Amino acid sequence: MADVQVPQERVVGPQTADDDVLRVEHVHKSFGPITAVRDINLHLRKGEVLGLLGDNGAGKSTLIKILCGFHRPDGGTMWLKGGPYAPKSVLDARQHGIDTVYQDLALVDQLTVYQNMFLFREKVRKPIPFLSNHIMRRETRKALEATGINIPRIDVPVARLSGGQRQAIAVARTISGDADVILLDEPLAAMGAKEGALILDLIARLKAEGRVSIIMILHNYIHVFQACDRVSLIQDGVIAFDRPTAETSVEELNEIVVEEYRRARQAAMAEEAGVAKAEQNGA
Ligand SMILES: Nc1ncnc2c1ncn2[C@@H]1O[C@H](COP(=O)(O)OP(=O)(O)O)[C@@H](O)[C@H]1O
Ligand SMILES: [Mg+2]
Repeated sequence: MADVQVPQERVVGPQTADDDVLRVEHVHKSFGPITAVRDINLHLRKGEVLGLLGDNGAGKSTLIKILCGFHRPDGGTMWLKGGPYAPKSVLDARQHGIDTVYQDLALVDQLTVYQNMFLFREKVRKPIPFLSNHIMRRETRKALEATGINIPRIDVPVARLSGGQRQAIAVARTISGDADVILLDEPLAAMGAKEGALILDLIARLKAEGRVSIIMILHNYIHVFQACDRVSLIQDGVIAFDRPTAETSVEELNEIVVEEYRRARQAAMAEEAGVAKAEQNGA
């Protein structure tokens, strides 16, 4: 039987730019026997919107949770604004200027919209020792209006809101803070087309201001080409492709994903062939 040829895996090596705010080299993380992130090299430039793409289970959320201080990496090196970066906690990352909208949202169902908006915030905004409900309500209105998404009542528990409204609150909370690096894990996942468009408009406005740098996990290639300066694709725990959006296309991204399926299939076939051969040889 002919040996099955497995195509080479693509791995993007470490890269840098003069205006990087965040840089990650050879970061890896396992959960027991499961390798979630194998060898990640990534950089983010000031004012840039980087789209992170990848299949389910590729390691996108784990990478975000490493960047935001939720998980400790098993190894690798990170730099933030030129200095070494090894956040001890989410709060520590926030104090370094990194804030996150998680895929699993992290709103507290029983709290109202405006209470959620200020959850964990008080500690960050040092000069305000006490926030009255009145101020929290007013600031919440302002932040939500900036998203354009309609949330009629801010004094109801968020458990009563739609998925899209909850996501809008999580996004509004993060971007109304003073973070200069924002991580968004599938911010459009629960949203309809109109709500999604509003959030993308908001991202475009932030980008125009040039103050914040953003990493955003998206699934829809149209959104990627609309909102992002650059795209990185994670496959199986490594960055397999990294390119300015102006220099790639939906067709090229699709081709890479198809190639990955082909590679996985041929690797499985090669393994089977190896097992069969070993059995034939009476091993
Ligand atoms: N806390 C965890 N414990 C065990 N396995 C995990 C944990 N978090 C993620 N994983 C595993 O790591 C891999 C990558 O997951 P994840 O980063 O959530 O992928 P993605 O966000 O790209 O879908 C998956 O196989 C997932 O099951
Ligand atoms: Mg995920």
